[in-house]
Amino acid sequence: MTEKKLKELLESMTLEEKVGQLVQCNAGQFIENTLDITGPEGEALPAEDLCRVMGSVLTFEDAAQARALQDMHLAADPKKIPLLLMLDVIHGLRTTYPIPLAMGGSFDDDLMTECADMARKESAACGVHVTFNPMVDTARDGRWGRILETCSEEPLINSRMGAALVKATQGEDLSRPENVACCVKHYAAYGAPEAGRDYNTVEMSERQLRETYLPAYKACLDAGARLIMPAFNSLNGIPCVANRWLMRKVLREEWGFRGVVISDYNAVGELVTHGVAENPKEAVRLAMEAGCDIDMVRNAYYQYLPALVREGTIPEKDLDEAVMRVLELKNELGLFENPYHGADEALEKELYLCPAHRDIARRAAEETAVLLKNEGILPFPKTVRRIALIGPFAEEKHLDGFWSRPGAWKDTVTLPEGLRALLPEAELMIERGCGAEIGAVDESGIERAAAAAAGADAVILTLGEEEGDSGEGRSRAEVTLSRPQLALARRVLAANPNTAVVLFNGRPLVLTELEEMAPAILEMWYPGTEAGNAVARLLFGEANPCGKLSVGLPRRTGQYPMPYNRVNTGRPKPQPDSRAFPFTSCYLDTPNLPLYSFGYGLSYTSFRYEDLTLDRETIGREDALQATVTLTNTGKRAGKEAVQLYLRDPVASVVRPVQQLIDYRKVALAPGETAKVCFTVTEKQLRFYDFDCREVSEPGRFELSVGWADHLMLTRRFELKKD
Ligand code: BGC
Repeated sequence: MTEKKLKELLESMTLEEKVGQLVQCNAGQFIENTLDITGPEGEALPAEDLCRVMGSVLTFEDAAQARALQDMHLAADPKKIPLLLMLDVIHGLRTTYPIPLAMGGSFDDDLMTECADMARKESAACGVHVTFNPMVDTARDGRWGRILETCSEEPLINSRMGAALVKATQGEDLSRPENVACCVKHYAAYGAPEAGRDYNTVEMSERQLRETYLPAYKACLDAGARLIMPAFNSLNGIPCVANRWLMRKVLREEWGFRGVVISDYNAVGELVTHGVAENPKEAVRLAMEAGCDIDMVRNAYYQYLPALVREGTIPEKDLDEAVMRVLELKNELGLFENPYHGADEALEKELYLCPAHRDIARRAAEETAVLLKNEGILPFPKTVRRIALIGPFAEEKHLDGFWSRPGAWKDTVTLPEGLRALLPEAELMIERGCGAEIGAVDESGIERAAAAAAGADAVILTLGEEEGDSGEGRSRAEVTLSRPQLALARRVLAANPNTAVVLFNGRPLVLTELEEMAPAILEMWYPGTEAGNAVARLLFGEANPCGKLSVGLPRRTGQYPMPYNRVNTGRPKPQPDSRAFPFTSCYLDTPNLPLYSFGYGLSYTSFRYEDLTLDRETIGREDALQATVTLTNTGKRAGKEAVQLYLRDPVASVVRPVQQLIDYRKVALAPGETAKVCFTVTEKQLRFYDFDCREVSEPGRFELSVGWADHLMLTRRFELKKD
């Protein structure tokens, strides 16, 4: 449809029809016309008009339902304005790939592209027009249950992976039925709630916000994301959905964003609960004034926006602008010509869980696994005959993680299935031992598990946290393994030291006690559909672990928040990992550093880093510097290494981090092979926000290093010249 036609359409719309474009309900409400109208009936759009005027629907089931919803609506709407269908496709639709926190640890943007591409195809066939993805809330606190949805504690990874996902999902041309629009979330700083408790308030300096939290949202918008979702939390006192500074000043004015803003689930109504609006009508006014276009679910806009416009509180011009943005998105998706977009039942069947998609999911699960410890017992030889498979996840099918589609777990390959496929001759002895749920107490299965371990050639001990214990609204005050699991580990490891621990969890867990007793630990996070196959192949050497930690693992929960790019303070502890030093920044009862730091992860092979060289020692603002390091695979297996480049600015006008990741590259090397890995460094990477919140770089000395956080191996200096 041409721009002119769109304008004519807008002009022809009644007030009710316009408001309808800004309202979203879920499929159930839509089908049954059950939007809850509780306030003064006279102000609301009539409930029976829902199907006619509604602009978008979220959370539907499949292509058949997508078509049916669209048909229902178009039959009722004389203007024939198609519905927008939205869904949370976070880490795969039917074929689930690892949770984002695991994906970040691949340090491999191409892997993210491949996975997102697979999810795009399945989503488009299902009839999705908009996915509520990527979620790029930088998070540094494992107590927060939604940390699993973010790629990393490091904004650079969130920015690059988020942008890769947006490009792969939206493609070049959104009107093509195989492409899906992206909604970036949750703007802003939702990943930094006070005390790690979901939905809690966020208080932070503008400098910190701009430096650490905003860049990832911006990167996704720069990559072309068409929608953005303000977060549930209040930011420096104002809930994001009503935060004019965030939405009008930063988003629209500074960043020039022209797409659609959609609230989070009932976030407009919740302005009353936050205590910044007297009643829902005032909440609608605040959200509209801040620039929130669509009200997700419930009924605030539906009920009160018509009256606010009629009485002149909200200028019709503002309403028109919001409606136009929605119509433009529909137009860009080509919905006026083809309202079903990619919805295709036959294609759904063909794509869901097809061998090519399973292959991508399996590779992703393998390449995001982090080998935390290995005292030479892994990989197990494929000749082992008696394998004890123990622990709460021994036969578990719920290995997909939060935001996998309802029922997706039924297709997940379990560990026994994976092991039997790889080692058909081996005998499997399976004992659950105990549960992983928070507060579990039953230890009655532990002795049987220990007996099975004693009689085995190799033991796989699965531990972690239940799938339902991380995700939205699932924060924890202690991020520890349940007591029975530790008791199980003690008994099993005593019975048979040839035991590898395999972890399934959606957040960083405290592994301090486990680490002391286990000779090998493999962190799988929630690996998705191909879990069992990936675990079997990793444990028996068909695949070589190459994931790194996208977030540090604490020694104790009390270390949170625990960013790897901390500042030095005026009284740093002389040796960060030693005992307490009086009157330095330290704990009396715990070392400062995490148990395992950001960027850490082992392999079955080994890599040597040498000769970090810079092609110049001084750069000007327009110059670029090349930093090159020589990497050699010194082991006997092919492997991949995530080469990480860190920066330190030792003296600046504001305190700067002791280490800051500024680039990374995943490199594959055959045994004995050497590669020169080259990074380009420019003045842009030296910038930060100064005291007045201006983005600046300051002349002076800088240090570049390779390695991982708290383990920088080679360091070289250079200087940024004065102008
Ligand atoms: C979540 C969002 C999600 C929305 C729609 C909310 O509860 O915070 O991330 O996109 O629901 O399902």
